[in-house]
Amino acid sequence: MSRRKVAILISGGGSNMLALARDMADPGHPAEVCLVLSNRPDAGGLARAAEMGIPTAVVDHRSYPDRASFEAAMMAPLRESGAELLCLAGFMRVLTPGFIEAWAGRMLNIHPSILPLFPGLHTHARCLAAGMAVHGCTVHEVTPDLDSGPILGQAVVPVEAGDTPDALAARVLPMEHRLYPPVLRRFVAGERAPLALLA
Ligand code: GAR
Repeated sequence: MSRRKVAILISGGGSNMLALARDMADPGHPAEVCLVLSNRPDAGGLARAAEMGIPTAVVDHRSYPDRASFEAAMMAPLRESGAELLCLAGFMRVLTPGFIEAWAGRMLNIHPSILPLFPGLHTHARCLAAGMAVHGCTVHEVTPDLDSGPILGQAVVPVEAGDTPDALAARVLPMEHRLYPPVLRRFVAGERAPLALLA
């Protein structure tokens, strides 16, 4: 059976992209990476992807007057790559409903909180401010409402005394790397029941 082609969209260091790409390096994986696309030319993940022999592309959002034209520009390399699924992995641009509709049911995101708590930015600081005992991350399908699509998997970590946002982020990130790859495998296999991962 042919493997499904996955494009990974990043804006930064790309540690989640690497976790996904390393998992898909397994020839028995039901999907393969066809492209790593960044909206930032300086994203550290671009070099890391290239080192793995993965094609990369940059579509710099600052070169376009609005979101729609930026997204139209992203469609060209995505189409050329043959991408059937998109994984957002630290991709920090809000997407328009038009783009999301074009990829409906074929786009996943990882978010650093236990959704529906703390959608949007600064999740670790907001978790601490709320006095939470636990924190974590969520992989979900992308729908037009920000960070609100069907939940495909969640991982939970404890909040510890004296935690700073950075300390909490450093505890969550390895769980992101453990969560996203199996969730993608399950998704490609048609599994939609959410996966739970406890630290
Ligand atoms: C990750 O923590 C990811 O959950 C978060 O950005 C980080 C990217 O790290 N994503 C968001 O905040 C999306 N709104 P990475 O580039 O090393 O994968």
